[in-house]
Amino acid sequence: MKNTLKLRFALRGATLFFVSVVILGSFLYVTMSLFLQDSLKDSLRVTAQHLVSVLDVDNGILTPPDSLDEGSSSRAHPEGFTERLLDPTGRVLLQNGPLTAELPDPHVFRGPFFSQSTSGSWIAYTEGVTDAGRLLAILQVAQSTRSVSAVLDQLFWTILLSLVIFVPLSAITGYFMATGLLSPIDAMTRTAKRFSTENLAARLELPPSNDELGRLAGTFNSMLERIEQSFKNYREFVSNASHEFKTPLAILHTILNVTRARPRTLTEYAQALDDMSQAVLRLETLVNHLLTLAKIEGEPELNGTSVNLGELCLRIGETFRPLTQAQGLELVLSVEPGLEVLGDETLLSSMVVNLLHNAVKFTEKGKISLRVYRRESWAYVEVQDTGIGISSEDQSRIFERFFQGETSREGSGLGLAIVESLVKLHRGTIRVDSILGQGSIFTAGLPLRVA
Ligand SMILES: Nc1ncnc2c1ncn2[C@@H]1O[C@H](COP(=O)(O)OP(=O)(O)OP(=O)(O)O)[C@@H](O)[C@H]1O
Ligand SMILES: [Mg+2]
Repeated sequence: MKNTLKLRFALRGATLFFVSVVILGSFLYVTMSLFLQDSLKDSLRVTAQHLVSVLDVDNGILTPPDSLDEGSSSRAHPEGFTERLLDPTGRVLLQNGPLTAELPDPHVFRGPFFSQSTSGSWIAYTEGVTDAGRLLAILQVAQSTRSVSAVLDQLFWTILLSLVIFVPLSAITGYFMATGLLSPIDAMTRTAKRFSTENLAARLELPPSNDELGRLAGTFNSMLERIEQSFKNYREFVSNASHEFKTPLAILHTILNVTRARPRTLTEYAQALDDMSQAVLRLETLVNHLLTLAKIEGEPELNGTSVNLGELCLRIGETFRPLTQAQGLELVLSVEPGLEVLGDETLLSSMVVNLLHNAVKFTEKGKISLRVYRRESWAYVEVQDTGIGISSEDQSRIFERFFQGETSREGSGLGLAIVESLVKLHRGTIRVDSILGQGSIFTAGLPLRVA
């Protein structure tokens, strides 16, 4: 159902109001009822005591007055009030008021007491008229509880009426308040609907308050920001990758067309195959690089094993010896034994290969050295060359995907991006120190495996 949250708000508000009014109303009703009864009893007692005090008792003899009202002429009795004077045997000496038949039996008199009719329609107070401990007469005052009931009835209907009027009203108010409060969420829904690959710029207008919804909207916007950025990165990546594919494919195409244009000598065919093989190799490297990147990115958590970093680097270093010799470069390998790290051996190999490849590619003469050493709880792989070096401007960009320096030779500019991703995957660090024209040092740090 639509708008359920608002409806729930409204229903909860109304229920809360209903329960509060019922509890408060009941409390008020009971308190009021007790208070009114107590007041009535107090008033009866005071009246009775006053009447007793004005009776004419002399030497143990009570002279009944002509009328009970005489002694209390100043009092205006409320409606439903009865007063009477009985002798100790229960004979009525004087009576004033309409509740006679319902008054309690005076024979049971033991001392002052309150009594109430079973229906609760009246309350009576009975008081003795004594002299030196002897009972001379009994005075009774009684009052109908009609006025108390009237007040309580009024209160009951007021509470009921407030429930009937205010419960729906609180539901409606709750609904509109929820609509106001939840409007930023509706805005988020609309923005999320507008946000698409065609419209990456859709953002929420931030509410002015810094409350929960304001913070949620802020977080939502920064999430959209990151999505937009990753979309841009993705598009850039696809466009760069396609561009990188285009060059070797164009070369292949040209060689094929030129070679097929007319009959060729065997030497010419051999040359064409060699050139095509170069282009295919370039494509192969590119695909391998892209696959490695995809693999790293698809693997947020590394499921590593223990790798002996020194042994691995020695093995890889040796495979570079023919290449360095062919280029007249000296290759120095020096590793500390027993440095174990937790990682993926294939991925770590790829990291070292990429660094060594660059060193060989960008060094014309001199030396390339591969060192593995330990500092505290870290193992470091250091690849140093005496090559062309990297300008400080380029140093900040060489780890970007597809970035290649001015003096760059063949390649796609993915090698160092892969190295950086691999190092991050292994919770390590990578740094470059380089002087243009003198050479570079790449240092990858990896946390040693805790035994
Ligand atoms: N040892 C180095 N000496 C000098 N410049 C380097 C060295 N290593 C990297 N660079 C510079 O950094 C750039 C990026 O290196 P990266 O390895 O990412 O790409 P690439 O070697 O050009 O191509 P790929 O590795 O994809 O075949 C290189 O083009 C080069 O300009
Ligand atoms: Mg490279």
